[in-house]
Amino acid sequence: MTDMVLPSESNPLNNLFGGELLARMDRAASIAARRHSRRITVTASVNHVAFNRSVPLGSVVTVEATISRAFKTSMEVYIDVWMEDRFSGERIKANEAIYTFVAVDDAGIPTVVPELVPETALEKERFAGALRRKQLSLVLAGKMKPGDATELKALFMDS
Ligand SMILES: CC(C)(COP(=O)(O)OP(=O)(O)OC[C@H]1O[C@@H](n2cnc3c(N)ncnc32)[C@H](O)[C@@H]1OP(=O)(O)O)[C@@H](O)C(=O)NCCC(=O)NCCS
Repeated sequence: MTDMVLPSESNPLNNLFGGELLARMDRAASIAARRHSRRITVTASVNHVAFNRSVPLGSVVTVEATISRAFKTSMEVYIDVWMEDRFSGERIKANEAIYTFVAVDDAGIPTVVPELVPETALEKERFAGALRRKQLSLVLAGKMKPGDATELKALFMDS
C-alpha cells in the first residue's frame, strides 16, 4: 500500500504522526489477512511496533503486509514499512510491526483459516518465531498461563 505523507498526517516536527502509521499498517494487514483467509478479519492484537526512523512530510511510504503464519483461526501479519528517497528512488526500511488478525464469520465467531507454507529463508524464519510471539501475546493478554507457554520457556532454557 503506497501513499504520501500530507501535512494533516504530520506531527509538530513535520514527521509522520505515529497513529497515522498504525492505521495504515492495520489497513494493509487487514487486507493481507482477508486475502489469505477469504473471510472477515479483525485485529486481535498489535504484538510489536518499532518506530525506528521518522518519516518526513512529503515522503512516499509503502506498507507491505504479509502473513507469516496461520494458526487455527488466527494469523500473524508481519509489516515492513519503506520510504522512498526523493532523489534516488531507493527504498529505505523505516519501521516494522507484527499484528495478529482473527478470521470470523458473519456473527463474529472465530473460524478456521487455511494453512500457510513458508518458502523463502525470511518466510521460514518469521514462521518459526510466530508461535513464540503468539504465546507471549496470549500471556501478556492474560489468556494463557506462563507455565503453558512452551515456546517461551524453551527460549529462556536455551539461553
Ligand atoms: C479477536 C476475537 C475474535 C478473539 O475472540 P476470542 O473469544 O478470544 O476467541 P478465541 O479465544 O477462540 O481466540 C481466537 C484466536 O485468536 C487468538 N487470540 C486471541 N487473543 C489474542 C491475543 N491477544 N494475541 C494473540 N492471539 C490472540 C487465539 O489464540 C485464537 O487463535 P487460534 O484459533 O489460531 O489458536 C475477539 O476478541 C474480538 O472480536 N475482538 C474485537 C476485535 C476488533 O474489533 N478489533 C478491532 C479493534 S478496533
